[in-house]
Amino acid sequence: MQQNVKIAAVLLVLSAVQPAFGQDKADVAAGAEVYATNCSPCHGERLANSGGVPDLRALKPDEKAKFDAIVTDGRGGQMPPWEGVLTPEQINQVWAYIRSVAD
Ligand code: HEC
Repeated sequence: MQQNVKIAAVLLVLSAVQPAFGQDKADVAAGAEVYATNCSPCHGERLANSGGVPDLRALKPDEKAKFDAIVTDGRGGQMPPWEGVLTPEQINQVWAYIRSVAD
């Protein structure tokens, strides 16, 4: 009896966290696609950097603001600005993808 109550409690907790977890996975999957289409030619397939451009896996979790600014505005003439090409949501999805690989 006690055991059943425990199992029920565990199932309840699992079903509560599931939606958030599912959304994260959806963002990571969408970000992987945005990355593969737009970023991988320079930054390397699946974030595996070939040298010459910054390795995006080296970005720290607290560097989201820096990431947003550089991706939106571009940098140094070689990193193109993505404002108007990618939506802020797509840029967030690429960040979710990078974090899923880097962390
Ligand atoms: C045409 C090649 C090219 C493409 C395409 C490209 N980048 Fe870059 N990126 C660069 C180069 C070169 C730099 C280094 C710029 C500099 O600092 O002078 C850079 C720098 C960056 C940086 C700064 C990294 C750091 O640690 O300083 C970020 C973040 C970044 N790119 C993200 C992206 C994302 C996300 C995409 C896809 C939406 C993308 N880049 C597409 C060439 C590219």
